[in-house]
Amino acid sequence: MTLDPYFQAAPGGDIAFTIEAPKLKFGIGALAEVGEDAKALGMTRIALYTDPRVGRLEPVENVVKAIRAAGLSVEVFDQVEVEPTDRSFKAGTKFAVEGKFDGFVSVGGGSAMDTAKASNLYATYPAEFLAYVNAPVGEARRVPGPLRPHIACPTTFGTASECTGIAIFDMLEMGAKTGIAHAALRPSLGVLDPSVLMTLPVPVVAANGFDVFSHAIESLTARPFSHRMAPATPDKRPLLQGSNPYSDLACTEAIRLVGENIERAVKEPNDLTAREPLMFAGMLAGIGFGNAGCHVPHAMSYAVAGLVEDYRPEGWPADHAIVPHGMSVILNAPAVFRSVASACPDRHLRAAAAFGADIRNVPEDRAGELLATHVINLMRRTGVPNGLSAVGYGEADLDALSDRAFAQQRLLVNSPRPVSRDDLRGFFKDAMRYW
Ligand SMILES: NC(=O)c1ccc[n+]([C@@H]2O[C@H](COP(=O)([O-])OP(=O)(O)OC[C@H]3O[C@@H](n4cnc5c(N)ncnc54)[C@H](O)[C@@H]3O)[C@@H](O)[C@H]2O)c1
Ligand SMILES: [Fe+2]
Repeated sequence: MTLDPYFQAAPGGDIAFTIEAPKLKFGIGALAEVGEDAKALGMTRIALYTDPRVGRLEPVENVVKAIRAAGLSVEVFDQVEVEPTDRSFKAGTKFAVEGKFDGFVSVGGGSAMDTAKASNLYATYPAEFLAYVNAPVGEARRVPGPLRPHIACPTTFGTASECTGIAIFDMLEMGAKTGIAHAALRPSLGVLDPSVLMTLPVPVVAANGFDVFSHAIESLTARPFSHRMAPATPDKRPLLQGSNPYSDLACTEAIRLVGENIERAVKEPNDLTAREPLMFAGMLAGIGFGNAGCHVPHAMSYAVAGLVEDYRPEGWPADHAIVPHGMSVILNAPAVFRSVASACPDRHLRAAAAFGADIRNVPEDRAGELLATHVINLMRRTGVPNGLSAVGYGEADLDALSDRAFAQQRLLVNSPRPVSRDDLRGFFKDAMRYW
């Protein structure tokens, strides 16, 4: 491919990339159209999934009103657990089975959208819980056919769960975060209405903004699709293919929008003009990483989130310890960029330039450090904790963290350069403290 030297053909490497575009609607006030959207999808009897906090907010009220105004019936399940578990997926499924619904609507963050996806799956094609769960935790059984229609209405931004066929949860018995991944789980429509972000607590805005940021930078710097082994047959080409010219476009713009707006969104919480571009950036990065895939910072984040003992950040329910997803990602990101940039310095410079760094006269061997420094400055200005030590980790945790992260091979193979368990240990060490 001649579009960019990064995508030069490699022996045995893939020759093409595919684009799976989710169906999305974006605009202030768009939630008022959900009733008509549901009708157009053939829904008559709808299950609406939300969590207890979002359930009391305006977006849920607006969506319920819109559904009823369209002449459809709706019942609300507001017991979604934040950072859901198998227990809450099962409770959501029970609700879906008992209600005999023909359509699903989710209003909330990734937690609500993922719970609706899983409930739709198990109510439509009942099976033992582990049947559809990703291997090695589960059997990774194929979903037998299409699910019932699902309209996902995010009230956060960044997870891009409205774009993906992924539902993530904590398997309580194993203390492991895992998921269910199949194209059939992708919502029929995502409705992004930026006005929902006005009630989002500031720390959540910061965490989600950095999640978007990392999705975009990781996709831009991922191994090129042309260096992944070509599939034996075209239908075996994976969804997450590595960086490619299409996701580059979306991700570069997402990095620019987050860089330009995240500080204002955190410091001026009443200004929708700073939050609207963040939601759009989240959508763009979702399209980008939905086709390209993330790599090392996300692989490391699962270890950071999974091994947390007693960190309880402001802005999230205080009933259990948690390192929120976006935070657990960005805490690793600068350490990773410093180290893997040598594999594609121009892409790291491109990311830095997209959010305003002056890259003139910067030698290639400084690319990773330049990007890391800019990300760290932005973390400081937006109240992100100072490295993994600030969320409770220390030297004694390095082995457990690296073992967990090394198990995330699905993400690690997408790194611009091979990463060993020892490399991960070094990244975690470097991520302990940044300033
Ligand atoms: N399916 C995917 O593709 C995918 C991708 C990334 C992450 N995830 C998963 O998504 C979950 C995290 O989702 P999330 O970060 O969107 O948040 P969330 O759904 O976990 O919610 C975070 C907190 O914000 C509150 N909240 C949400 N919207 C609000 C609003 N508008 N105003 C006030 N409070 C609001 C919630 O009540 C909750 O307390 C995790 O379980 C993560 O693993 C899924
Ligand atoms: Fe993420």
